[in-house]
Amino acid sequence: MTVPVDLQHSALRAFHKSPALSGSVRVPGDKSITHRAILLGLIADGTTTVENWLDAGDCRSSIEVARALGADIEVEPNRLVIQGTAGRLKEPLDVLNCGNSGTTTRLVLGILSARVPFACVTGDASLRRRPMGRVMDPLTQMGADIRARSGRFAPLVVQGRPLRGISYTLPVASAQVKSAILLAGLLAEAGDTTVTELRPTRNHTENMLTAFGAPLRQVSDGTSQTIVVSPGATLQGTRVVVPGDISSAAFILAAAAVVQGSVVTVQGVGLNPTRIGFLNVLSRMGANVQIANVQTIAGEPIGDVTVSSSALQGVRIDEAEIPSLIDELPILAVLAAYANGETVVSGAEELRVKETDRIRAVVEGLQAIGVDAEERPDGFLIRGQGKVKGGTVHSYNDHRIAMSFAVAGLASQDPVTVQNWDCVGISYPTFLETLRMVGADL
Ligand code: S3P
Repeated sequence: MTVPVDLQHSALRAFHKSPALSGSVRVPGDKSITHRAILLGLIADGTTTVENWLDAGDCRSSIEVARALGADIEVEPNRLVIQGTAGRLKEPLDVLNCGNSGTTTRLVLGILSARVPFACVTGDASLRRRPMGRVMDPLTQMGADIRARSGRFAPLVVQGRPLRGISYTLPVASAQVKSAILLAGLLAEAGDTTVTELRPTRNHTENMLTAFGAPLRQVSDGTSQTIVVSPGATLQGTRVVVPGDISSAAFILAAAAVVQGSVVTVQGVGLNPTRIGFLNVLSRMGANVQIANVQTIAGEPIGDVTVSSSALQGVRIDEAEIPSLIDELPILAVLAAYANGETVVSGAEELRVKETDRIRAVVEGLQAIGVDAEERPDGFLIRGQGKVKGGTVHSYNDHRIAMSFAVAGLASQDPVTVQNWDCVGISYPTFLETLRMVGADL
């Protein structure tokens, strides 16, 4: 694919064959949970503390947006202290810049639509290419007034209005869209809001709204899941302890799976059932995955995950499983390259509208390092040969693409060089430190 002009600046980083990895480490706090804690802290009454928050580019965007809307936020190394607005948000003085963060953008649209007289929302070049119609449609049905460039892209302009509850079935499995509607429903003027999802997506918003005292009801009938929120309640600030991010742990655990002789434990990882598809697939591929010390904190299960290297085999990953591992598909593709046999991913067209077109970026990257990989409209096919040659790949400024190919380089014959490496700061600024702690020679 031709590299867009805005991605043509470059920081190169080479990764070469690593000695066996070992040890016990922690990964930074969960990105999805940190975003939600900041945004719920913004609309809540009183103080919210967020321990083990993810200090990375995306969450810094949420902090700045929440400050512009009236939250007072003290940033400490391992704790945020947020004084909320009790739902009385400030009209921002300037454009809200969500940077690279789709989660910030979509969730905040739900809040702005109900409570802020006038706001403009934008972000970086990647964010400005991401579809916003999926949140604009349901919010507009609730009475929101949102305008967008070309009808569906940032920059967006929102004029807050009294909203009314709706019943809405999600046409795409998206936790961001679900969360935006639930937040708008909570802040609406009248009427319950009902969101139905046919495929379960991450439920951190539901868990956290409940912890902040929101009137939320959930019904599951086996095939679908419905969440109902009533308007009128003011959230109460609370203490949030953020688990380690399974999406970050995935890179470390994948490195342990492919570097021969490795045994690595990641402690304190979030194991919410809506997020652990990666671990299930890793086991199906034949990796040795052990989970220990599981406990539940504020509705979120947390535990220690140990992975040791072993021979891997190709697997099928179908639509039903995609939401539980959506962000882990790039690293699973790298594991598939190290496996023997075919791996087929289908029903994953959502990957095309992430930070970059991840189907394309993964397939082109794999081909560039000598892997037999084929693009499909809704996924990819990889013919794994148990080994990878090496070469130079582009990250397309996508943090998860960059880290996936870094892991590829830890066991390849020749080094893997990743262009535009700096984007890892979006979700995992200390990624290289963690790798060094388990013995990677970087
Ligand atoms: C997220 C939900 C997912 C995921 C994204 C974070 C969230 O996106 O890919 O990285 O925090 O709600 P969608 O809900 O759009 O699938």
